[in-house]
Amino acid sequence: MTNDTGPGSGPAPFEGEALRALTLQDTAVLAFALLEEGAGDALSPLRKPALATVSVNGAPALRTVILRNFDRKARVLELFTDARSTKVAELKREPRASMLFYDPRRDVQLRLAGRAVPLTGAAAADAWAAAGLPSRRAYLAVAAPGSPSDAPTSGLPAEIEGLIPSIDKLEEGRVNFALIRFGFDEADLVVLSRTGHRRARIRWPADAPVMEWLVP
Ligand SMILES: Cc1cc2nc3c(=O)[nH]c(=O)nc-3n(C[C@H](O)[C@H](O)[C@H](O)COP(=O)(O)O)c2cc1C
Repeated sequence: MTNDTGPGSGPAPFEGEALRALTLQDTAVLAFALLEEGAGDALSPLRKPALATVSVNGAPALRTVILRNFDRKARVLELFTDARSTKVAELKREPRASMLFYDPRRDVQLRLAGRAVPLTGAAAADAWAAAGLPSRRAYLAVAAPGSPSDAPTSGLPAEIEGLIPSIDKLEEGRVNFALIRFGFDEADLVVLSRTGHRRARIRWPADAPVMEWLVP
């Protein structure tokens, strides 16, 4: 139930009959379909959600991330990051986090609330092995993300600037690699429509979902 309008035309906003026919069950199906699309399609706008954490001083902190994997049964999303980044320190202190996805083609917003755990070393070994070589290169950055620099910089050592180093060289960055596993127990979906918006919330107090309509 993705409201695709036909071959070649792709997803579209929910209007008219498509909106009126939308059931609570459909919204749950749609939420999971959006996450699967984001994890599976590098070109989808759902590939680049925002991750919100709580900063050390209690303020909200937001950044764009790339969705690497989605396990629908466990309701867990996976992200890659630098173990030295601020977000990792924030999550170690306060694992409560949320994620925001917006699909401009369907005009749908999906917010997820849950807990995110950064894993490094052996716990992140499978993710490191699955990461593409260009992804691994980022972890060779000499200084931590967010470090001040006198000049514009990629942060990478000069000798690997603009190229993909050997596997052996990439291995040196492994120590800086972290896998973030974000498990969610609440999803809030807003469908924007000229016909009249819709909003649904799905919560998982246990394994079985509890769904309800909300005023958008
Ligand atoms: C399109 C895009 C995708 C990004 N993907 C990631 C990502 O997957 N992981 C990551 O750690 N940072 C990613 N970033 C950089 C973050 O948005 C952020 O600037 C960086 O991780 C530092 O965040 P922090 O200081 O809050 O930890 C991405 C940035 C952009 C613009």
